[in-house]
Amino acid sequence: MKKTRLCDLLGIEYPIIQGGMVWITNAELAAAVSNAGGLGLISPTAGMSLNDDQVAHLRQQIRTAKSLTSKPFGVNLPLLTPGIEDLIAVVIDERVSVVVTAAGNPALYTSRLKEAGIKVLHVAAAVRHAQSADRRGVDAVIAEGYEAGGHNGLDEITTFALVPQVVDAVTIPVVAAGGIADARGVVAALALGAAGVQMGTRFVATHECAAHPNFKEAIVKANDVDTVITGRKLGPARILKNEFAARILEMEAAGASAEELIAFIGIARSRTGQLEGDLVNGEAYCGSIAGMIKEIKSAGEVIQSIVDSYDTVLASLR
Ligand SMILES: Cc1cc2nc3c(=O)[nH]c(=O)nc-3n(C[C@H](O)[C@H](O)[C@H](O)COP(=O)(O)O)c2cc1C
Repeated sequence: MKKTRLCDLLGIEYPIIQGGMVWITNAELAAAVSNAGGLGLISPTAGMSLNDDQVAHLRQQIRTAKSLTSKPFGVNLPLLTPGIEDLIAVVIDERVSVVVTAAGNPALYTSRLKEAGIKVLHVAAAVRHAQSADRRGVDAVIAEGYEAGGHNGLDEITTFALVPQVVDAVTIPVVAAGGIADARGVVAALALGAAGVQMGTRFVATHECAAHPNFKEAIVKANDVDTVITGRKLGPARILKNEFAARILEMEAAGASAEELIAFIGIARSRTGQLEGDLVNGEAYCGSIAGMIKEIKSAGEVIQSIVDSYDTVLASLR
């Protein structure tokens, strides 16, 4: 498989990043991805109870990952997370190799992280956000289309349209995210000018991921049309269709205010869906590529199957 400048930047063998996924991307998954030659990312809240101390939990996870792999791994830090200052201090203190920031202003912490020797990648869903991250000195930008599971950009640009436009607008490496789950997607992303890919939904359906078995099974059973964007008023997110999604959409169609929607959603609905496995009342972030995922595998098998078919896909283009 092609070695790209992302591999050189991050010290990894294959240009594949396992995206950070709130509540479920635990140390075991991140270490398995890194051991297989990609870059695994831990989420500060992965597997966490609501009453746990997030800072101590993250430190413990970083130490667990260090005990499971000698390869580089990273931490995903959504910048609007309450207590973000303390989380930044932990990744610096624990000398994590890579931080992927998202959902917030890259001006805030990029230089501090880089001064500590950490590579910084930032998730952007529009060209102007990618350019702004580039100006703030990030090492690479992750261009995420709105096929992606989880929170999306407001402009609803697809990966296929977004990636080449970001590639043309910045000089740093661009990582494509959203709608990629096999070697065809990786080859397509590289053809668009990306230096690598970030995958989320594919890694939910792995043995190592902390996601509840109901969530993994729901991904395996999903079809192409089984996800939907909710929360266009609050902050859009692509989630699995279920009763929770239907109720939110009904409320939105009826003109519910942001306050009413927040009151309905309550606290940590995404934890209820993804970690507790309540796929009726819980919110399960999921990308539209779920329809292509037919099997729960180990994280290493996911990476190896991409590596094994990469050359065949390339050859089919000649
Ligand atoms: C269950 C789930 C939770 C996610 N949580 C986060 C998160 O906490 N932080 C973040 O930056 N991205 C998050 N994402 C986005 C992923 O990191 C990744 O960019 C995205 O899943 C890629 O698109 P795909 O789902 O089509 O592979 C989440 C995605 C999923 C499916």
